[in-house]
Formats: sequence, C-alpha cells, structure tokens
Amino acid sequence: MREVDQAVAFLRTRLPAAPELALVLGSGLGGLADQMEDTVIIPYREVPGFPLSTAPGHAGRFVAGRLGGKNVLCMQGRFHYYEGHDMAAIALPVRVFKALGCRALVLTNAAGGVNWDFNVGDFMLITDHINFMGANPLRGENDDTIGPRFCDMTHVYDPGLQQVALQAAAAQNLVLRKGVYLGYMGPSFETPAEIRAFRTLGADAVGMSTVPEAIAASHCGLPVLGLSLITNMAAGMAGKRLSGDEVIEIANARGVVFQQLVKGIVAAL
Ligand code: HPA
Repeated sequence: MREVDQAVAFLRTRLPAAPELALVLGSGLGGLADQMEDTVIIPYREVPGFPLSTAPGHAGRFVAGRLGGKNVLCMQGRFHYYEGHDMAAIALPVRVFKALGCRALVLTNAAGGVNWDFNVGDFMLITDHINFMGANPLRGENDDTIGPRFCDMTHVYDPGLQQVALQAAAAQNLVLRKGVYLGYMGPSFETPAEIRAFRTLGADAVGMSTVPEAIAASHCGLPVLGLSLITNMAAGMAGKRLSGDEVIEIANARGVVFQQLVKGIVAAL
C-alpha cells in the first residue's frame, strides 16, 4: 500500500467525522486547536509513515473536531525542511488531507515582514509565493494518480478563498494585508543583504515553511488559503538582532486575535 493510503486508512479508524477543511497551525499559533470542540487528538508518531515534529512551538499532533461549525482536521505543528525532513515527508500530510476528502487547506505561519509598510503583529493574506528553498516536493518519480508531472502554479492560493478571507477579516474589523511569501530554507535567519534582494524580487514576507505544502496541494488539486502573522521585521529592518524566542513571543501575544480571524474564516469557508 502507498504511504498516503496507509496513513489515510489509519486516520479513518480514528477520526470522529470526515474532515471538510484542513488547517496547518504555524509557530506559536497552535492555540487555535484549543478553540475546537469535540476534539480527538492523534499524535503524529502514531500515524504510519509520519515523522516526528521537532520545531519549537509545535506540538506534533493532529487535532480533529469542530471549528466554526465545520469538521476540521488540524495539524498542531508541521514539518519543516530545516528540521532535516525530506520534502516528501512535508508533502505527505497534504496528500492525506486530499485523500480524506478535505475541500480546502488553510496554511498558517509566522513570518518576517519584508515590505516596509508592514508592522509587527500584522496579518497577511498570501496571494502568491516565491520558492527560494532550493528544493521542490514534486522532485523525483511522479505519481500520476495524485497529480501531473508538470504542475500548474498559476493560482496556488485560491482566489475565491482569498475573497472569503478578506470578507471575514473585514467583518471583524481586522486589517488583512496582502502579499507574496518567500520561502527560505533556514534554519538561520536571512542576512540583511538577502532581505534587500528578496524585496527587489517582490517578496512582502519571508518564512521557513508553507511553500512545500502549497506546492503539494497544488499538485493534488487541493485549494489553499495562506495566512501569515508578521512576528518581526526581517533582518536589518528594525535595527536589532532576530531571535526565535521573539517570533514565538509575538505569535503568542497576537495568538488570540489570529485565532479569532482564522475561526471566522473557517466559519465562512
Ligand atoms: N525569517 C524567516 N522566517 C521567519 C521570520 C524571519 O524573519 N520570522 C518568522 N519566521
């Protein structure tokens, strides 16, 4: 049996209901899972073929349940390329979501602001991305039953889902910026010169996740909504050094508002 099918078969025995929506909760944003009702918790280590998540601020488990009136399957913690995981391992949960029948994938992350108009604590709707990770989850043999060898990337971040997100944010009087997310391999933060280069290339925010999952979702035909929380201004912009602790601190401080936003979006999806 394929890895995807094994994981799907296992999850079907544990899930309370077929999930409609899938959510990936980024650094410091895992608290959203606490807002869910009728939850069932499934640690990744129990799922066949799943690696362990080691990143700080990431719990490493699925939380299934109800959020905003929908059956949701949430990843509380994700797999990052910088942890040493293969791109294939990062793509696996996305393919599992698709096979379980999810109709959309909401990807959230903490990111550094590259656009000078942004501020720490801002929320950004990802309209497109730049893959600067030097790797692609679709490299290697293609499984034609999952998606095509050469995958179109014109509308990775679904325009219809973006509209829903903008309306849900407006309904809560929250400003939702729009921008291009640049995926950086990490785990070192960028240099100020890299940030200047990325701005010239058209990036508005930079982070170390999301891009591989979005590519895998595009490949298997799962519409994506991407949301970033700007936890810091990127290297060289704020006249101070960057730290992972600060990222988690800001993510926690803005966590409640971010959770309300995502909950509102999920309810409207
Ligand atoms: N760079 C890369 N990833 C990040 C950052 C950053 O400044 N902030 C949060 N994740």
